[in-house]
Formats: sequence, structure tokens, C-alpha cells
Amino acid sequence: MKLVIVKDYNELGKITGDFILEKVKQNPNVILGLATGSSPITTYEYIIEKTKENNIDWSGVKTFNLDEYVGLTPDHEQSYRYFMEKQLFEHINIKKENTHVPNGLWKTNEEAAQYDEEIKKAGGIDLQLLGIGQNGHIGFNEPGASFDSITSIVDLTKTTIEANSRFFEKVSDVPTKAVSMGLKSIMNSKEIILIASGANKTEAIKHLIKGEIGTEWPCTVLQNHPNVTVIVDQEAAKEAISAANK
Ligand code: GLP
Repeated sequence: MKLVIVKDYNELGKITGDFILEKVKQNPNVILGLATGSSPITTYEYIIEKTKENNIDWSGVKTFNLDEYVGLTPDHEQSYRYFMEKQLFEHINIKKENTHVPNGLWKTNEEAAQYDEEIKKAGGIDLQLLGIGQNGHIGFNEPGASFDSITSIVDLTKTTIEANSRFFEKVSDVPTKAVSMGLKSIMNSKEIILIASGANKTEAIKHLIKGEIGTEWPCTVLQNHPNVTVIVDQEAAKEAISAANK
């Protein structure tokens, strides 16, 4: 696992943005796994800016997002499909049919599992971008999730519901379930970058890098992947650094 420590949230966007843009330049048909949440916002802003500046062509790129809230339609303002449209897709020349976000209206795990089939059919994810939850979740794979999980309907923990309630009017508006790519689906990606910013992620980052591998901290599964780059700002890196110095 490679660790890159950057100054702050803005620099995180720049470094991660360049990393992703480099892949698009190298392979105009690259398949990207994308994430939502606050962490990738500066990355997407930087990508949009550079795409405009350098006329970067996204017409051959395919994307698969990690997760979606159960019960939210794609046009719901808090849905992850809506987030992706507003934060990235409508600002670049990516083809709508090449962008995939799990459907919040899927009712069964059989429907959800088709998502992995679609990824496989497309050729597999070349580069997966990940954020991380305060409890170490990746995608919406909460503590206890099996390392063998594929895309399915999952329950959200109280911590995650509370953390994500900042985007909703009230806590009771936050869906309690999501469709999420599983840990195995994520591990199938050829390459992974995980990004984090701020002090509230520092414990999760310590576990990600130094923790014992186990389902209590889902992020630790990434220690088993051969090609992971972790890009975090100084605040998020603090505990990992102090653990390394002990
Ligand atoms: C959310 C998403 C994750 C995201 C994480 C961190 O619940 N399901 O994909 O990485 O939590 O979110 P944020 O970047 O807003 O802190």
C-alpha cells in the first residue's frame, strides 16, 4: 500500500485529479470506479477544470459508482446518481449510457448482483476511487461485512446515518439501507486509490494502514490488494503517523 500525504483538501483534489486524468490520457477507454461524498468533491472540481482547459475527451470512458441509497430515485437531490450528474458528469463529455450507478429502486439481491455482471462484461474496473467512512466502511460496506461480499442491499449503521444526515433536512430522512458494491467487487478492481481529508477520518486511516486485517474495520481488506494508493491530508494522516513513530 502506497501512502501519499498532502497538505489539505484542495491539494488532495489536485493530486487525485491528476492521478485519474493521467489514466484517462493513457487509455481513452478506461473503466473507472467512482465514489460520492465530500471527499471526492475537490477532485471532481479539479477534473472539470483541467478537462475544460486541456479539452480532455471522456467519450470513451466508462464509469461504475460504488453505491446508492435504497428508496431514492435518480432525480432525488440526495441520490448518488444526482450527485454524480451535478458534481461531474454534466460538466464533461462522458456519454450518459457509459455511466453506471446502482439503482436505489432495486428490490432484491439478485437484481443487485447483476451490477457485478455488468462490470465484468465491460472488462472490469481499471481504477477504483474510494472514500472512507469514520468507522472504516468503504462503499457502504459497514463493520462486519464479509470480505466475500458482492453487490447487494445492505443496512447502514447508526454512525453512518448520523454522519450522512448533514446532507438531509433531518436524520429521519436518511435512508437506512443502500445498494453497495461488495468488498469482493471492490477488490476485483485492478487498481485502487483511497482518499480522505480531515481529523474525523484519522482513526479509520490508522486502521487502514496499520490495523489488523478483519471485518471490524472493512477498510483493512485493502491491505490484501496488490495495487492501492492512499492519498490523505495531514489531518487525516495524524494517527497513522504517530502509530508509525511508536
Ligand atoms: C459515504 C459513502 C462512501 C463514502 C463515505 C465517506 O457513506 N457511502 O462511499 O466514501 O461515506 O463520505 P465523506 O467523503 O462524505 O466523508
